[in-house]
Amino acid sequence: MSAVAEVLFYAEEPDPQPWIAALRAALPEARVHDWAAGGAPVCDYAVCWKPPAAFFVGQPKLKAILNIGAGADAVLDDANLPTHVPVVRLDDAGMAGQMQEYVAWCALTYMRNMDEYARLQRAAQWLRLPPRARGDYSVGIMGLGVLGRAVADYLRRMGFPVRGWSASPKFLAGIDCFAGAAGLASFLAGTRMLVCLLPLTPATRGILCRATLAQLPRGAALVNIARGAHMVESDVLELLDDGHLAGAALDVFAPEPLAADSPLWRHPRVVVTPHVSAMTLVGESMAQIAEKIRALERGDAVAGVIDRARGY
Ligand code: NAP
Ligand code: GLV
Repeated sequence: MSAVAEVLFYAEEPDPQPWIAALRAALPEARVHDWAAGGAPVCDYAVCWKPPAAFFVGQPKLKAILNIGAGADAVLDDANLPTHVPVVRLDDAGMAGQMQEYVAWCALTYMRNMDEYARLQRAAQWLRLPPRARGDYSVGIMGLGVLGRAVADYLRRMGFPVRGWSASPKFLAGIDCFAGAAGLASFLAGTRMLVCLLPLTPATRGILCRATLAQLPRGAALVNIARGAHMVESDVLELLDDGHLAGAALDVFAPEPLAADSPLWRHPRVVVTPHVSAMTLVGESMAQIAEKIRALERGDAVAGVIDRARGY
């Protein structure tokens, strides 16, 4: 780094101090300023997760904004976000392995009817359901980016038939790939468990609605680990109640935290987890951001620059 860089930091966390300490340790050649403490100078870089509206005010010299997350929807929605400054997201940073575990758990649960056995146990009912073969239980992944590809490959190696859907065409070994609006119907028709790993953009908001989910075969399961606003909650509840969806594992909600009176909490066919399918890891994420700031200072290209026009 040529001169000492000034870095502005904000993370919507109960205690951001461990994050600030990790960034300072990973980037000792910079000065990291806790925005919440006030008095930060004009900075070169902003490192943030869900910053408040005033965060970017009085920061005319930012060279890049580093989002502490894979999904940049929250920062892109910020009315004060400078228009010409690159926004850089996290790539994996320890999240892909967690997503693989979460989706593997869902696939084994739904394929082996473990959710149904849990309900039968609560009713003290001894009932053996017809077995299913893993090779017949297809998993469809919406989004074949950094996380979707890692999950697709893991499920394929477990022996599940895997299909994926993305905006642009893909050719991935052992994965049936579909793309764009033209590929959606065929992708859905052959999917027994649908996993959403899309970014939240104007094109994907509300995509998990009746019109989409009704194209899945009856008895399919839904796993939403992307953003709550991908899902039309009332449609999902109706499809669960009429048996079109056999179950839903939901990790993300709009808004979060999920309201205490939401019917999702107590629905017998819904599993709720509190946005933990892939948690942002302090050490890994701050180390990746430090490396990206160093690369930017050298004038090198970095991975994960958001294309503002497409929204991810
Ligand atoms: P990514 O690398 O940007 O991948 C996005 C994928 O979605 C790409 O394959 C892209 O297609 C596809 N896509 C985007 N818009 C589409 C559209 N309109 N139609 C079809 N496909 C579309 O993102 P990532 O790192 O894998 O992360 C995905 C999302 O996971 C994040 O945005 C975030 O919302 C969520 N997430 C959740 C958690 C959690 O704990 N719940 C943790 C981390 C991330 P192309 O490849 O053709 O561009
Ligand atoms: C978490 O939700 C992320 O986008 O990294």
